[in-house]
Amino acid sequence: MMIAFRAYRIFEQDGKSAGRFVDLMLDELDPGEVVIQAHYSSVNYKDALAATGAGKVIRRFPCVGGIDVSGVVASSSDARFKVGDKVLVTGYDMGVAHDGGYAEYVRVPADWVVPLPQGLSLAHGLSLWDAMALGTAGFTAALSIHRLEQNELTPEKGKVIVTGATGGVSSLAIQMLAQLGYHVVALTGKDSEHDYLKSLGASEILSRKDVQMGTRPLEKAQWAAALDAVGGETLAWLTRTMQQNGAIASFGNAGGIELHTTVLPFILRGVRLIGIDSAATEMPLRRQIWQRLATDLRPKSLAQIAHTVPFTGLPQVFPLLLQGRQRGRSVVEIKAPG
Ligand SMILES: NC(=O)c1ccc[n+]([C@@H]2O[C@H](COP(=O)([O-])OP(=O)(O)OC[C@H]3O[C@@H](n4cnc5c(N)ncnc54)[C@H](OP(=O)(O)O)[C@@H]3O)[C@@H](O)[C@H]2O)c1
Repeated sequence: MMIAFRAYRIFEQDGKSAGRFVDLMLDELDPGEVVIQAHYSSVNYKDALAATGAGKVIRRFPCVGGIDVSGVVASSSDARFKVGDKVLVTGYDMGVAHDGGYAEYVRVPADWVVPLPQGLSLAHGLSLWDAMALGTAGFTAALSIHRLEQNELTPEKGKVIVTGATGGVSSLAIQMLAQLGYHVVALTGKDSEHDYLKSLGASEILSRKDVQMGTRPLEKAQWAAALDAVGGETLAWLTRTMQQNGAIASFGNAGGIELHTTVLPFILRGVRLIGIDSAATEMPLRRQIWQRLATDLRPKSLAQIAHTVPFTGLPQVFPLLLQGRQRGRSVVEIKAPG
């Protein structure tokens, strides 16, 4: 392909990261067997850290941003993919050490590419928009639930708390858990969003400012499981308030990276702390999770959580995430309709 296309590329200038729109040619992108004409990407917390330099997540400059993409195969030198296939890519090095999804054309190794998953029937398969309404966030929510289930979580075991509740991963997790029949408790800093969280299926809402976290190594046992977007003091409090054999899926650090707790929750209550790393998930499990996202974990109302922003509007979304003011998911429309 010899024509230039639009990309949002992140540069390092005077020790600081800054993103801007540029025109690129295909041979300026990192190598890979599959070229995808991007239809949609999305905005994750990591994308906001990368594009603004608020977190040192970019490992190679300059780099086209965007850790997610969905689109149609434009060319492939790998027999597993052919022109016209609908596909998605999330994680791996995309958008941090390999040119990512914020570009009209994306070139990646074939080993990173996931065919767009089918639902139980054609009518229920995921669309390219659905795939990015989910994106890394939906994948992380589903992987967390999957890991908790592997640790014997069932709705009968008790309440499941989700922190950073109005965020992308957590909004999706709440809807998925509620559909599976769990009693979901949503912990949020946004008092204006309680109705939104109830509409996603949360049975109870806890306001961040009202939670008394206490200081004892073990506090009243309340949760069968937890999905944590926040880290820091919130995660420490979760370890102290889990029920016997409760399990925590720790996937985020929106509130801090430190964890100060004691071993007592682990040795007296059998609490399990499960780390979630979506980016490096190996392909067999990755495909299994995407298949679940198209079937039993498919949120019934993605449009309630995700809204679409034009490619040109991308830079305005980053500060919302960094300031904790974002609600749900932003899908980035890369290919103009029509
Ligand atoms: N491990 C993985 O593979 C993986 C994958 C995806 C994301 N993540 C991480 O998961 C977290 C959430 O990602 P996301 O894309 O869903 O981001 P997001 O949409 O920005 O959601 C984060 C939410 O956390 C809450 N929050 C923000 N700042 C906070 C603070 N200082 N203290 C306490 N709560 C705060 C807010 O919810 P409320 O206002 O409702 O409390 C916010 O909406 C991020 O840390 C991200 O890096 C990890």
